[in-house]
Amino acid sequence: MDDRLKCLVCGLEFSFVPNQIFCHGCGQPGLFQSSVVNNAGIKSTGTTALERFASFLPLGQVRPELSLGEGQTPLLALNKLDSSGCLLAKLESSNPTLSFKDRGSALVVQKALELGWSAVGTVSTGNMASSTAAYAARAGLKCILLVKKGTSAAALLSSAIFHPLILEVGGDYGQLFRESYGLGQEFGIYFANSVDPVRLEGYKLTAFELCLQLGRAPDYVYVPVSSGGHFVGLYKGFIELGQAGYIEKVPVMVGVQAAGCAPIASAFEAGQNSVSQIQPSETIAHSIANPDPPAGNLVLKMVNDYDGFLTSVTDEDMLLAQKQLARDEGLFVQPESASALAAYFKLRHRFVGTSVLVLTGQGLKASHQPGIDNLTYQVSGVGELKEFFRSVYSQK
Ligand SMILES: Cc1ncc(COP(=O)(O)O)c(C=O)c1O
Ligand SMILES: [Zn+2]
Repeated sequence: MDDRLKCLVCGLEFSFVPNQIFCHGCGQPGLFQSSVVNNAGIKSTGTTALERFASFLPLGQVRPELSLGEGQTPLLALNKLDSSGCLLAKLESSNPTLSFKDRGSALVVQKALELGWSAVGTVSTGNMASSTAAYAARAGLKCILLVKKGTSAAALLSSAIFHPLILEVGGDYGQLFRESYGLGQEFGIYFANSVDPVRLEGYKLTAFELCLQLGRAPDYVYVPVSSGGHFVGLYKGFIELGQAGYIEKVPVMVGVQAAGCAPIASAFEAGQNSVSQIQPSETIAHSIANPDPPAGNLVLKMVNDYDGFLTSVTDEDMLLAQKQLARDEGLFVQPESASALAAYFKLRHRFVGTSVLVLTGQGLKASHQPGIDNLTYQVSGVGELKEFFRSVYSQK
């Protein structure tokens, strides 16, 4: 297996080695070379997403027993939110640990075993921690999690249950991210962080699935962006499908950031081709609030090369969108994921066509929870139920 990476920003090629994934020329993460052109096709056999698309992946052999049933997520029409029938959601929140991260973790543990590593790790604000821990447990790998101080109790619980080593680390998150690779090299831990090229190959499969489910490529795809890993992975999937002639046109990829922390969207709006680190600012959207995104320049390059778009939305708009997805469509996602709907409402008059929101994570693990105080009624006993219903129905 030729594990070559290429830097799409400056063109440098180098070998894939865990913990050494950044280009020496420009510092951006390398990507596996395009695999679609020489592929042996999509398999109708096999039950897991990785088996189905095995020939597109940088893996000698897929071990289906390591799967937790990731991928093959529903594509739902959101007709109540937009009666045009052109709005759809790819429900990544229905993955085993409730976020898109599972697609990446599923592949990472396979690669770790193939390369003979016995421990995997990650630096995370929540979702990637629980996902990595679950897949490591399944694969019998040791797992080390470096999580941000302030990670939600639900996210910690859904990681700790798999019995990894968890360190809650204070201070600068960007520094922690960079430091992890040195620790990984020294102590034999494959740190598969947010922009790990193997992870991104897993995210690429979302694009494949989407096109198969729709029978073609959508016109617009809305994705929340933090480090840029997920966005780049999806983009890579569509580009490879386009290059191989499976789809006519790469969709317009719309990256969405939180207005309180939008370094990539700001650089895009200012017409720059590199991202400057910003001061962390206030937003409730912790999972999409990376002030120093490791794939920022790569995101800008892809957006510029393929006519993509970047925007930002306020916390208020995200929270409203979260409510709308729940009340109108029965979907509970994190505010970070609902940012995709908020951006759609902002841009739909300009971007007319089939639009897919990638709903990245389920709502329960989010650090910011919607208030439910006014949504429940207290009834002291069964005997009072009739009275309660009488008062409710007499109001109608
Ligand atoms: C729910 C959710 N959406 C979006 C993102 C952003 O993904 P990325 O860091 O790959 O840009 C994250 C990252 O943790 C996330 O947890
Ligand atoms: Zn480079």
